[in-house]
Amino acid sequence: MSVIGDPELERLLTALHARSSAQAVALQGYEARGATESCPPTEEEIKLFRSDKLVALDRDKAEFCYQLCRANNARRIVEVGTSYGVSTLYLAAAVRDNILATGGDGVVIGTEYEPEKVRAARAHFAQAGLSRFVDLREGDLRETLREIGGPVDFMLVDIWIAMARPALELMARHLRPGAIVICDNTEQYRTEYADYFAFLENPANGFRTMTLPFAGGLELSVRCKPSAARMD
Ligand SMILES: C[S@@+](CC[C@H](N)C(=O)[O-])C[C@H]1O[C@@H](n2cnc3c(N)ncnc32)[C@H](O)[C@@H]1O
Repeated sequence: MSVIGDPELERLLTALHARSSAQAVALQGYEARGATESCPPTEEEIKLFRSDKLVALDRDKAEFCYQLCRANNARRIVEVGTSYGVSTLYLAAAVRDNILATGGDGVVIGTEYEPEKVRAARAHFAQAGLSRFVDLREGDLRETLREIGGPVDFMLVDIWIAMARPALELMARHLRPGAIVICDNTEQYRTEYADYFAFLENPANGFRTMTLPFAGGLELSVRCKPSAARMD
């Protein structure tokens, strides 16, 4: 039994993680080919290849996110990159369990631009009985996350790397002091994440950050200083 403590949800998660792992080999092969071929795939071809891949957050990282959300009693969570909803299920379970423990309300705002993934994710939330804790917004995050509606306690950045900085920049003014931001694979792709780190490490943005030794590195950043901009 994992930290989730919900056998039915665990069964669904086990099946989804297995599906994602089975696709990982194909993904790695595709990425390796792209790096060595004389005529690498275009952005459109890469997007098409990835469009049915789960690319789910590793189980240990997702459980860690659940634990962090329980520890800071997260009620308002933003996730960029929902895919088939694997990480969202962990986050929504944390919101549900926080509400069960101390009452109140909460939501995970997710976003995904592949329509088929959105459909599948919604089906998974329904299957897990967690739909009422998720507001999944279909479309490009730069449009879908314009309205957040209140301070954010926790953010998960699990998206194609080029979108990580725009997402953090967009959300920064909504992150309450003490909010946690997790970002995947920051050690493995440290060079590609250069602009994300530049934003995190700019003292004006008020973050403290460290890379945790999960596979590929998992960035844990804390918003230490309130944003100069208004939170809404
Ligand atoms: C690594 S996967 C997310 C995996 C998910 N967090 C999970 O654990 O199951 C990244 C997802 O981000 C989506 N994505 C990439 N760029 C996007 C954008 N600009 N707006 C919305 N979604 C985007 C991709 O379609 C992909 O499904």
